[in-house]
Amino acid sequence: MYGIVNKAIEDLIITQYGEESWDNTKEQINLDIDFFLINQVYDDQLTFQLIEAAGNVIGKSQNELLKELGIWWIVKLSKERYGSLMTTGGQDLREFLINLPAFHTRVMMIYPKIQTPEFAITSISRNNIQLLYKSKRAGLVNFVYGMLIGLAKLFSSQVKINITPDPFHPERSALFDILWI
Ligand code: HEM
Repeated sequence: MYGIVNKAIEDLIITQYGEESWDNTKEQINLDIDFFLINQVYDDQLTFQLIEAAGNVIGKSQNELLKELGIWWIVKLSKERYGSLMTTGGQDLREFLINLPAFHTRVMMIYPKIQTPEFAITSISRNNIQLLYKSKRAGLVNFVYGMLIGLAKLFSSQVKINITPDPFHPERSALFDILWI
C-alpha cells in the first residue's frame, strides 16, 4: 500500500498514544525505515505488521485499532490533506455513500498505482443504505467500519451501522447496513 497508509498509522499512534508508543512499535518489528514516503508503494505486509505491533503496544485488538485508524483517516487526514477531493464526494452522508463506488477513481489521479477497494450500493431507501465492500486484501473490514463512522461524524449524521461479513470471504468482503436514526 502507499506510504500514506503507514504514515497515517504513525501519526495516529504518536498523536493519540505518544512518541514512545511509536518507538516501541517500530522496535517490535525491527523497522529500519526512518520515515515513510507517502507516494511510495510499500509491501502490504509491512502495514499489517505495523497494525499488529501498534495494537500490542497500546493494548488494543487489531480490529479496534483499524476502526480508530478509519475514523482518523476521515476526520483528520482526509479533511486536512484532501479537503477539496472530499468535497467532490458529496455534500452529505447519503450523497457521499452513493458516490463512494466511484470515489477512488478520483483518488487514482493522486495515487495511480493504488489497488482500490470495491464498493457497491445494494439497496437504498429514505433512511437506509446497504453498502457492499470487497477487497483483494484480507483484514480491512474494520478499517471500512471506522471510515463509515468517520464519515457520519464528518457530516454530523446519526446512524447505526450493522456489519454482515460475507459468508465465503469474511476477511475480504462485508455488507454494511447504514440506518439513519
Ligand atoms: C481523500 C480521501 C481518500 C484518499 C486520498 C484515499 C486513498 C487511499 C489509498 C492511497 C489507499 C491505499 C491503497 C493502496 O495503496 O493500494 C486507500 C485504501 C483504502 N481506502 Fe481510500 N482514500 C480516501 C478516502 C476513502 C474513503 C472515503 C473510503 C470509504 C470508506 C476509503 C476506503 C478505503 C479502503 C477500504 C482502503 C483499503 C484498501 C482495500 O480495501 O483493499 N477511502 N485509500
